[in-house]
Amino acid sequence: MTQFTLQCDTKVIFGQGVRGLGREASALGGRVLVCYGGGSVARNGILGAVLGELKEAGVSAIEFPGIEPNPRHTTVNRGAALCREEGVGAVIAVGGGSVIDCAKLIAAAACCEEDAWDLVTRRAPIERALPVLTVLTIAATGSEMDAGAVITNWETHEKYGIFDAHLQPRVSFLEPRFTYTVSPFQTACGAADILSHVIDKYYFTLNEKLAFAEGVMETLMRTVVKFAPIAMREPENYEARANLMWAASWALNGFLSPRAGATSCHAMEHELSAYYDIAHGLGLAILMPRWLRYCCDEKRAPQIKQFGVNVFGLDASTSDMVGANAAIEAFESFLYETLGLSRTLSEIGIGEEHFCEMAKNAARGGGIDGFKLLTEEDVMAIYRMCLLPDAPL
Ligand code: NZQ
Ligand code: ZN
Repeated sequence: MTQFTLQCDTKVIFGQGVRGLGREASALGGRVLVCYGGGSVARNGILGAVLGELKEAGVSAIEFPGIEPNPRHTTVNRGAALCREEGVGAVIAVGGGSVIDCAKLIAAAACCEEDAWDLVTRRAPIERALPVLTVLTIAATGSEMDAGAVITNWETHEKYGIFDAHLQPRVSFLEPRFTYTVSPFQTACGAADILSHVIDKYYFTLNEKLAFAEGVMETLMRTVVKFAPIAMREPENYEARANLMWAASWALNGFLSPRAGATSCHAMEHELSAYYDIAHGLGLAILMPRWLRYCCDEKRAPQIKQFGVNVFGLDASTSDMVGANAAIEAFESFLYETLGLSRTLSEIGIGEEHFCEMAKNAARGGGIDGFKLLTEEDVMAIYRMCLLPDAPL
């Protein structure tokens, strides 16, 4: 029987720029840390708009620039120390998933003396966190509306996600126009990530399903398949950017389905970005079709075929196996031809050198129990499939 508890108390302010940010921030903390990444938000004017709003509301802003994609725990520690030194009362993330995730952990680490890595690995509990506000600048991770954060320890090559209610953003400003400057490559990576959240976490399962949620998932995936190529061709197409942005938030805000899956591709991808610092969406794009091929058997083929029929409009009258294969091919064609993402790990300079450690860590604790239970050997096999364009099983 389906049982779930859903709590998602982020206030979303959509399509209104950062109007009201000053008011929201002053209600949460008189002095705020404004976190951002490598400079895109300074170049495209979003940072200026944020700082202007805060100034007008009399909120004092301390800037914390330079948060890297795949944010490091050492960056979290620096941000948390700054919060404590400056008596900051709230943290504002202006950026994508990396900036938002880092800001969430800064908000938690600022309230304790622990090293951020101990919070990520749960060696120390998160008992409290400063309130977090987000100004989203790229449609991808859903971090703007979830309680998760993914942080990397670059010294040990570990990248882990943590979900904790204290990390849920209080307010998120979702302005599709803020994503007009996202490059075609990052737009494509974001699209792959949005799809992956549905595919990897909820859609592919042998467990009981809620038909309503499944239908919404298929609509969401069709939305991404339709609008991502448009946003890549026409970066200032509001309809495309708005649909992608809202789809990204919905893919992971918990509303789609109560069944939290094992996120097999995410477990495997986090190893890739922990060793090679690649874009999260790119790693997922290479992994997902191989994972589906690896999982495909008589029991799982009907679900894979349904994906092809309901997301890519494929013929429903074929056998399950033929339909499942066609679905995976359609998915590959979308990722590698339409979105133009790299098809293999080899193409992006990744070889077998770390596969053993990566597979061991991805499958730690008895394997990844998702659509199909993946042992260390299974993960190794999937990584190997990713080296060649058409690696047979
Ligand atoms: O650093 P800047 O200069 O801002 O440039 C960024 C970065 O280089 C650029 N960018 C962002 N907004 C832009 C823009 N460039 C031009 N115009 C804009 N408006 O895009 C690049 C990528 O940004 P990043 O934040 O790294 O991308 P994304 O949102 O995909 O975040 C990826 C991170 O989130 C984690 C991933 O593992 C990865 O570390 N995830 C977080 C999740 C969560 N919290 O729930 C779930 C996800 O599955 C994911 O694991
Ligand atoms: Zn993801």
